[in-house]
Amino acid sequence: MNTKRKIVVTSALPYANGDIHIGHLVEYLQTDFWVRFQKMRGHDCLYICADDTHGTPIMLRARAENITPETLIARSLEQHAKDFADFQIAFDNYYSTNSEENRAFSNAIFASMQKSGAITVKQLPQLYCEHDAMFLPDRFVKGICPKCNAENQYGDACDACGQTYPAEELKQATCVTCGSTPVLRNSEHLFFELEPFRDFLKSWIPKHVATDVAHKLLEWFSEPLRGWCISRDAPYFGFEIPGHPGKFFYVWVDAPIGYLASLQKWCTDHKQELDAWWNNPEAELYHFIGKDIVRFHCLFWPAMLKVAGIKTPDQVFVHGFLTVNGEKMSKSKGTFVKARTYLDHLNPQDLRFYYACKLNGTTDDLDLSLDDFVHRVNSDLVGKITNLASRGAQMLHKSLGGKMGVMDAEGRALWKTACSRAESVATYYESRDFGKVMVEIRDLADAANQYFDTKAPWALVKTDLEAARQVMTSVLNIFRVLTIYLQPVLPVYAKRVGTLFNEEPYCWAALGKAIENQTINPYEYLATRVDPVAVEKMVESSKAVPVAQPVGATGRSSAMTVEPVKGTIDYDTFARMDLRVATVVSAELVEGADKLLKVMLDIGEPKPRQVFAGIRKAYDPAKLVGRQVVMVANLAPRKMKFGLSEGMILAAGNPDGALFVVSPDAGAIAGATVK
Ligand code: 2FM
Ligand code: ZN
Repeated sequence: MNTKRKIVVTSALPYANGDIHIGHLVEYLQTDFWVRFQKMRGHDCLYICADDTHGTPIMLRARAENITPETLIARSLEQHAKDFADFQIAFDNYYSTNSEENRAFSNAIFASMQKSGAITVKQLPQLYCEHDAMFLPDRFVKGICPKCNAENQYGDACDACGQTYPAEELKQATCVTCGSTPVLRNSEHLFFELEPFRDFLKSWIPKHVATDVAHKLLEWFSEPLRGWCISRDAPYFGFEIPGHPGKFFYVWVDAPIGYLASLQKWCTDHKQELDAWWNNPEAELYHFIGKDIVRFHCLFWPAMLKVAGIKTPDQVFVHGFLTVNGEKMSKSKGTFVKARTYLDHLNPQDLRFYYACKLNGTTDDLDLSLDDFVHRVNSDLVGKITNLASRGAQMLHKSLGGKMGVMDAEGRALWKTACSRAESVATYYESRDFGKVMVEIRDLADAANQYFDTKAPWALVKTDLEAARQVMTSVLNIFRVLTIYLQPVLPVYAKRVGTLFNEEPYCWAALGKAIENQTINPYEYLATRVDPVAVEKMVESSKAVPVAQPVGATGRSSAMTVEPVKGTIDYDTFARMDLRVATVVSAELVEGADKLLKVMLDIGEPKPRQVFAGIRKAYDPAKLVGRQVVMVANLAPRKMKFGLSEGMILAAGNPDGALFVVSPDAGAIAGATVK
């Protein structure tokens, strides 16, 4: 075995404003397999990660929930950590980019950038809301997509056509907060110039990523490399840039620096020097990332590290996307499955096993075919691999007092063959070709099952107990080797096997040992078949919940096209909505918001409810007074610029955008429940 290595491994930091889903898990699981393998080989290996906590979407999400960004990111960290732990993903440190370590590293790296002359200042025309007296981040603007004319699109990308554009190109843009029309104003921004790093990057890239990824990246080099805008205007949840009040580091600046900060935290906690792990030429550093964020990790990041005199990664391992049943994950089809939803229905080790079977260390997309998932787990993991242990151990207990003997010649030869695969299995692991590891294991299991069936120990126990014992001893020893090979992928499973044989969690060196003349512990369940009904239920619960179209404060009814009827919901979900008949007590225009009406609604409570509804274009406020409408009474109140909005009014939206509030027939009284 080679000498002890010192390895730092990272996965991309998940954003704090979203749940972990099975697409994310493609990355965290493969990184976990690789790190666990390195640890089994006796190397010092650290798996480092964190939540990516800064940026506009997080700020907006916190606003929408009427909580501080700090509260939001704390909640998210807890949920993410639990999801990862339940998927048996073992980080050595999981941190947050909103940390003092990260601020310090970000400031230091920025200072180096400035010192090297790579920071330039430019004026950028940007949308500015005169009413709110602020520059509008892309997600604060909505309008018509400049590419496909879809309405109600944000200032960065269109949900309908998927194209991206600068916010200034949006047609009929309005400010999301107040509904007024923004103007163009110049704002000063900081750029990190990449052109000075051209030669460095050109030679760095081919050495540190796979060839296909390098080719794509090098296409950028046919023209001068464009500077990267690293500043954002307030309001922004992030780190303020030293010397530039009101300007914040763009989230993608401090996100990768978060790798350093999280490792620093681990070093502090373990009384170790960061430089022994990161800046040490003897130590190795690897980033696992998806192919969508290559630009950040292979252009900006190495340039940032280079300018700051910090070691760049040894390799950036780039993987592809997840498809489900051959298609992009889809909320309406129920294939956009959150980690938690998966865990509510299925066993995490089954997904670990399946992903391992499909991963090959390339940028190819990985398809989770749900039928194939059921088949692979049931046929290979349960039917072939686990079957060796369940049949062998249970029979040994039932007929032979749980005592192993020695292997017979044939069994020993098979066991030796299994052991002899150690180096090729290790090579596959090292190159992240987990699929080949699994094929190797399955083939060895096939051979062992064949041996078992030919020897027919269930018959032998009646005629020759000792011969039967030899067969079971052989099968269990082979199974033990397969378990050692499987341990990085199925750590909990392997731990149970260790208990069966009275052993500690396995290291690679445990392969050489045979278990003979020893009593084993009672067999405990290792893996069970996947029930296809559970898969169906998981898909059902992942389907987007259709709701009546409440007209929100922003006037967004999302009703410009006729929506297809979405998946079903169960009765309980429906019953959670508290819909009430409401009488309009008063309705008035809202100054500075050309889409909104402030409506006071009587639903039989002592005080009327105040709702800001985006129905101004459809209704003269005077004509609404006295009318009955339907409101969502238990929607979480939303704090807006103009006051608190305490519910929503239901309205029908025609494909052309016309709006019609929903009213009950005459006779319903204010406060009556709508069901
Ligand atoms: O794309 C993403 O989900 C980012 N949050 C990844 C950040 S990785 C690193 F640079 F921090
Ligand atoms: Zn505004």
